Amino acid sequence: MSTSSSPHALRLGVNIDHVATVRNARGGVYPDPVRAAREAVAAGADGITAHLREDRRHIRDADIAALKSLPVPLNLEMAATDEMVAIALATRPHAACLVPEKREERTTEGGLDIVGGRAHLAPRIVTLAQAGIRVSLFVEPEAAVMEAASALGAPVVELHTGSYCEAHAAGDAARTRAELDRIVRAARHGTALGLEVHAGHGLTLDSVGPVAALAELRELNIGHALIAEAIFVGLQRAVRDMRAAMDRSRGG
Ligand code: PXP
Repeated sequence: MSTSSSPHALRLGVNIDHVATVRNARGGVYPDPVRAAREAVAAGADGITAHLREDRRHIRDADIAALKSLPVPLNLEMAATDEMVAIALATRPHAACLVPEKREERTTEGGLDIVGGRAHLAPRIVTLAQAGIRVSLFVEPEAAVMEAASALGAPVVELHTGSYCEAHAAGDAARTRAELDRIVRAARHGTALGLEVHAGHGLTLDSVGPVAALAELRELNIGHALIAEAIFVGLQRAVRDMRAAMDRSRGG
């Protein structure tokens, strides 16, 4: 959701998928993810992120259309399928973040295979870019992957922070450091190649600091931990606390 009007050097994209998860548990109309998105924006989110999955387990097509009408950039996470490309072309989100997707997974489990998947991804990246949609590739934080992303012509990569967050949650300091180092190296290498570098997946108020401190990063996309925290403190407070943690770690 890179926009020059954003007040933050490190943007916060709030992913509202799991508001839809709760809604869909009863198959009704509440809680409304669009209402959640408005609350997130009121609390300082720079953009809204939503993943329209093939199985529609949380976000539905109508949610995407409604989210597009909000006054902040919409980052549509999507598999690189013809169905999703057609939806993106019809909706024209600000950005499309291409993610790998398996029906059986609980959440997005790893980064895109952009080396093996090159022939499949390349034409879809071109189609989205020609429609004015900023394409981002959700990838593992590896130097070789940065090279491949750059060669594919995508302007943005989003580094998968899942392994770092798992190590952090397990209290494994050595592994946390090693995973953070991977993110640091990939962020630097990607930036040197001219890529805009984002990060996300699994970040919490406790784990966000060292990632937010990386000057190369331009955007974090955070969802599950914010929606979980909102149960106890409300969504606006959860977003404000996350924003403050990000700003603090950048000396703000
Ligand atoms: N970025 C991407 C590409 C994702 O697929 C997800 C999960 O939908 C997130 C960020 C947000 O992850 P979380 O909900 O764990 O914060």
